[in-house]
Amino acid sequence: MRFLVLLQTTALALGQSALTTTPLGLDVYMRVPDDNPLTDEKVTLGRKLFSDKRLSRDQNVACASCHDAKHAFTDHRRVSEGVFGRHGTRNAPALINRGYGTLQFWDGRSASLDHQVLKPIQDPNEMDMTLAEATARLGITERALAEGLASYVRTIRSGNSRVDKYLSRGAGLSTEEEVGMRVFRLKGNCVTCHVGPNFTDEQFHNTGIAWRKGDLSDEGRFAVTQRLADRGAFKTPTLRDVARTAPYMHDGSIATLEEVIEHYDRGGVPNPQLDLEIQPLRLTVEEKRALAAFLRALAGEISEGLPSGARKTP
Ligand code: HEC
Ligand code: HEC
Repeated sequence: MRFLVLLQTTALALGQSALTTTPLGLDVYMRVPDDNPLTDEKVTLGRKLFSDKRLSRDQNVACASCHDAKHAFTDHRRVSEGVFGRHGTRNAPALINRGYGTLQFWDGRSASLDHQVLKPIQDPNEMDMTLAEATARLGITERALAEGLASYVRTIRSGNSRVDKYLSRGAGLSTEEEVGMRVFRLKGNCVTCHVGPNFTDEQFHNTGIAWRKGDLSDEGRFAVTQRLADRGAFKTPTLRDVARTAPYMHDGSIATLEEVIEHYDRGGVPNPQLDLEIQPLRLTVEEKRALAAFLRALAGEISEGLPSGARKTP
């Protein structure tokens, strides 16, 4: 087991950032591409675009339909529903702190938000438009569309959870939640992958979720890298606000946090590429309950927008 610091408080200067006030627990600096600096204009445009249904073929679906601020920017569906009631195969991730992330999507097939944000518009199961159609309908350039959406998504941040307050002030968690944090770090081995300010290593691991009756229902990261070790591997999701984002996993196949904990306690689902860090845990009933309580204490305050016009989301 690797021991890593649960929350880095030291900020690395990775690039310029207009996000001057940082929620407790997050890095001060966020990497922002040199050719798309954050500005009020772009964030304001991006916020409007994010809920603009004209970006979808049937004008019924906006980014916000699947990434609803009321549910920590998820949709509470097992898999998302796009235009004409079409379904994809994956669960909508919580769009919080994605600006700190490196690779986007469950399989990391997109290397930047500026690239990622145009994909759902073109995905036949999501918004099903061509970029030519979308830009003509809205009367903006492709560049403005990408820069606005990416800038807005970068401003969606969650921090200030009770766990962050506890780690900075040494108080504020119940005894059970403290026990849960110890299980998270030690016996549960969760921190091996759910590490750092955003509780993710941004790496890809096979925990067996996609393994069904002797085969993979989704190859995950393998589709991008063609590396055998990446078969059935998915990006470690953040655990911030996790109590608000059920159902869980890349396919939404687990309904509750208690069932997620049982999945790990069993040692995941055995399959040829199961991550070596996934082993049976033999947690006691009390430890499982404490771990769930700790995960719930990761509920934070979500805000979007630049500090000049930041808004708390519901
Ligand atoms: C029909 C539902 C739907 C719509 C509409 C939609 N998304 Fe998503 N979004 C998803 C799903 C599902 C995924 C995960 C897909 C995958 O990983 O293959 C995702 C992934 C993402 C990610 C990657 C997050 C991560 O953790 O890697 C970002 C960023 C994102 N969407 C932003 C947007 C933006 C911006 C829009 C509007 C232009 C949008 N989405 C529209 C369902 C949707
Ligand atoms: C080997 C790395 C690894 C370890 C160890 C690990 N996780 Fe995960 N976790 C992942 C990955 C990867 C996923 C996504 C898997 C998928 O969807 O196929 C995930 C998903 C989750 C989710 C679902 C979140 C969501 O938004 O869907 C929760 C909750 C979670 N893990 C909690 C834990 C807890 C609690 C522990 C310790 C008992 C733990 N994890 C240990 C890598 C890991």
